[in-house]
Amino acid sequence: MRTTRKVSVWPVGLVGGRRYERPVVENGKVVGWYTGWRADRPFAIDMAGFAVSLQVILSHPKAVFKRRGSQPGMQESDFLKQITTVEELEPKANNCTKVPIYFLKRFSVVFVEDRTNKVLFYRFLCGTHEQKRSI
Ligand SMILES: *[C@@H]1O[C@H](CO)[C@@H](O)[C@H](O)[C@H]1NC(C)=O
Repeated sequence: MRTTRKVSVWPVGLVGGRRYERPVVENGKVVGWYTGWRADRPFAIDMAGFAVSLQVILSHPKAVFKRRGSQPGMQESDFLKQITTVEELEPKANNCTKVPIYFLKRFSVVFVEDRTNKVLFYRFLCGTHEQKRSI
């Protein structure tokens, strides 16, 4: 996540009616989506599955992540298509072959490898995140 230049993506566990869903990556580029639901969405990805650099947000001041008004399941696509293209996405988590995050009811659990490869345990809760503990 911290190496995101513009918009990065990765697999998410326990979402979309599957054990996981993930961007399908070929030659380092996103070419499609493995998901249990509506793979025809422009960005068939859960909001737990991508990061956007602050620079991108600042350079698209009109881009909004709508809380209401999107078709069901289209929130992510409606937002991402304002700021990027599928071709531009940066696959993380070993070309999306690892599942670094699990979607749980109240919060998501994210495993991030830092520069020393120590795995950190993050907790996302109500849009804020905190470093919980090293494991
Ligand atoms: C991802 O795939 C690209 C193209 O096949 C490759 O060059 C790159 O090293 C891979 N990245 C990782 C982290 O495996």
